[in-house]
Amino acid sequence: MSRLQKYWQGKKIVITGASSGLGRSLCEALVPFGVHFALLSRRENKLRELAEEFKDSDCTFWIRSCDVSNQMQIQQCIYDFAEHVGQIDIVWINSGVSHDSSMDNWNWQKVETMIDTNLKGAIYTAKAALDVMGEQESGAIVGIGSAASMRGLPRRSIYSTTKIGVQYFLEAMAVDFPKLQFTTIHPGYVDTPINNKSPKRLWLIDSEKAAQLMIKAVAKRKHIYIYPWQMRLFYHFVRSLPHYFYYKLAERMKNLSRPPKELQE
Ligand SMILES: NC(=O)c1ccc[n+]([C@@H]2O[C@H](COP(=O)([O-])OP(=O)(O)OC[C@H]3O[C@@H](n4cnc5c(N)ncnc54)[C@H](OP(=O)(O)O)[C@@H]3O)[C@@H](O)[C@H]2O)c1
Repeated sequence: MSRLQKYWQGKKIVITGASSGLGRSLCEALVPFGVHFALLSRRENKLRELAEEFKDSDCTFWIRSCDVSNQMQIQQCIYDFAEHVGQIDIVWINSGVSHDSSMDNWNWQKVETMIDTNLKGAIYTAKAALDVMGEQESGAIVGIGSAASMRGLPRRSIYSTTKIGVQYFLEAMAVDFPKLQFTTIHPGYVDTPINNKSPKRLWLIDSEKAAQLMIKAVAKRKHIYIYPWQMRLFYHFVRSLPHYFYYKLAERMKNLSRPPKELQE
C-alpha cells in the first residue's frame, strides 16, 4: 500500500468550498481512495452535480448548503456529520474569496466579506472541528491560506491579512492540541475562477496538479506547505527581505498586478 493510500483510504473528510476550483479538484483527487465526504458550500446544486458524477465510486457523499461566515451553520454541519459518521478524520478549510482592496478601490462590503469568509469562516470551521477532534483525540485540520500571505501585499492588503491569519490560528491550535495534525497550505496561482481577472499569474498551475501536490503534502503531515516550488522560493525570499527592500519590490509588484481597466472590479 502506498503512503498516499495508507493515509487517505476510507477517511471521513469535510471539505468547505467544494463546489468549485481547488475544493472540487481535491474531491476528485480523493475519489480513488474511497473517502466519505461531507461537501459544504453555499451552492448545493454544484455539490450534488459533483456527487452525481462519482455515484458509482466507493465514496459516500453527505451534502449540505453552508455559509462558512455563519458560525452556527458551519458548527451545526460539522457536528451533524460527526454524528452521522461517528468520527471525523480531516476537516479541510478551503472556502475563500478574493477582492482588490486598494485605497482607490476600497469597498467595505467586499472587505467585510473577505474577513468574514476567509478569516472568521476559517476560525468558525476550525473551532467546530476542534470540538469534535479534541474529544476524539485524533484528526487533522488543513487550512488553505495563500502565497499572498508572504507579506502585506499592496492591492491585496485584506486578502493577505486574512490568509496569514489562517496560518497563525492553526499554529496556535497545534500547541493546544498536540495529538492533532495541523497543516496550512499556501497555494501560488492555480487556474480557478477566483483569480481569472488577474493579469499576471506567475507560475500558474492547473487545479488537478494542485490537488495532487496538496494531498501528498498532507499525507506527509507537513506543518506548512507552499506550492509550486518556484513560489515557495519566492515566498521565503520575500519574507526574508528587510523592510526597505520589501517596499521597493512591493511598489513594482503593485504596478505589475494592476488589471487592465475592463477587468477592474
Ligand atoms: N486559485 C488560486 O490561485 C488560489 C491561490 C491561493 C489561495 N487560494 C485559496 O484557495 C481556496 C479555494 O479557492 P479557489 O481557487 O478554488 O476559488 P473558487 O473556485 O472561487 O472557489 C471558492 C470556493 O469557496 C466557496 N465559498 C466562498 N464563499 C463561501 C462562503 N461564505 N461559505 C461557504 N463557501 C464559500 C465557494 O463556494 P460557494 O460559492 O458555492 O459558496 C467555492 O467553492 C480559497 O480559500 C482561496 O483563497 C486560491
